[in-house]
Amino acid sequence: MSKSKLAAVRGMNDLLPQDAPLWERFEARAIDVLRAYGYQQIRTPLVEHTALFVRGIGEVTDIVEKEMYSFEDRLNGEHLTLRPEFTAGIVRATIEHNLTYEGPRRVWSIGPVFRHERPQRGRYRQFHQVDVEALGLAGPDVDAELILLAKRLWDVLEIGPVRLEINSLGGGEERARHRAALIAYFEKHAEVLDEDARRRLHSNPLRILDTKNPAMQELVEGAPRLVDQLGDASRAHFDRLQELLTAAGVEYTVNPRMVRGLDYYNLTVFEWITDRLGAQGTICGGGRYDPLIELLGGRPTPAIGFALGIERVIELMREAGATADATTCDVYVLHQGGATLPAALRAAEAIRDAGLDVVLHAGESSLKSQMKRADASGAEFAVIVGEAEVAAGAAAVKRLRDRGAAVQFAVQASVTLGELGSRLAEALEATID
Ligand code: HAM
Repeated sequence: MSKSKLAAVRGMNDLLPQDAPLWERFEARAIDVLRAYGYQQIRTPLVEHTALFVRGIGEVTDIVEKEMYSFEDRLNGEHLTLRPEFTAGIVRATIEHNLTYEGPRRVWSIGPVFRHERPQRGRYRQFHQVDVEALGLAGPDVDAELILLAKRLWDVLEIGPVRLEINSLGGGEERARHRAALIAYFEKHAEVLDEDARRRLHSNPLRILDTKNPAMQELVEGAPRLVDQLGDASRAHFDRLQELLTAAGVEYTVNPRMVRGLDYYNLTVFEWITDRLGAQGTICGGGRYDPLIELLGGRPTPAIGFALGIERVIELMREAGATADATTCDVYVLHQGGATLPAALRAAEAIRDAGLDVVLHAGESSLKSQMKRADASGAEFAVIVGEAEVAAGAAAVKRLRDRGAAVQFAVQASVTLGELGSRLAEALEATID
């Protein structure tokens, strides 16, 4: 066996302890906001049958054509894929468990997703999403609700301004008409099309609008726009959404070129974008996918949802000045081994009973070096349970942070073991005030 160091897989990141507090803060606030709108958590497997994503996301999409981590189960030959997104799996679960039988469902999920993209800032191969889905609701009221939910999240996370772009992809017939118009238009300008566009011309012409090729920008700018060809019902849906957003004070722009990278969308689509993250500025995207549940074998059920990229949102939090507090505990307990260890264990438990976070020094070392550890832990107090203290039935308490003379502490240098928890809890509260 080679002893060369093993590194993480390219594009897949460790979340290190010093960065975890920011993720925890993000998650706690996101969950609060989701609850505030009545959304319930759902967790589906990381691995699904490959066919689910092929049928759900669409065969001629970047994700399905080249980005999925797919493999064959060695034991039974099943074709499986690490989820590249949540929606298909949630729809599968909705159908399998008849989740909308008694009425609409509002659900959310969180976790890693996998796409074999070229890694760069803000673009990873394993990344994390918060995914939100409203199942069984035709909108446009719920379309506005989801946009407001996302906006509230940006506000509570204090990530600064992000811009909302919306579009309507219409219904099936409108898309068919638009598709025919697009094919005719692009065929007329075939000489400008690159290889990718030529390949997609008849399979998925809409995706050509998404091209990053500068040589094709002008062509794409002049292409027929679906918003101009919406029928009355789709137009009314889109108009009403805009009315609701305006009434709620949400600023937006209509971007007729927004096509989204997954094939299941119809009517409303939207993205939240920032210029502060370089090329990967879309922090959140989603839209309506009314045909998908039926397409995957369920009863026709309208639905809409979105997903946000957690790495990108956390990066924005950092940009906006959020810092992670890497403090591990409120109290660090020192001892001298031997008979002082059981006393220190009891003291630590008593302080935890009082609701404080405690690290009990592990192993044996001098009180001096333990005190250094205590200081580095970020704890507010060191509690020393040494031989002299145990003999006196007390513990010595040392304040580690200088909070200034104005703060009065309800704790003295020596506290009986029985009183330790409550005295420290009071003292900590006084410190926080
Ligand atoms: P998506 O636009 O493919 O939509 O991804 C949603 C968000 O995930 C993006 O806006 C971006 O913030 C983040 N993201 C995407 N790829 C990467 C990557 N390689 N590295 C880091 N972050 C990334 C969906 O996934 C749909 N399932 C959303 C949805 C839910 N539509 C309806 N319901």
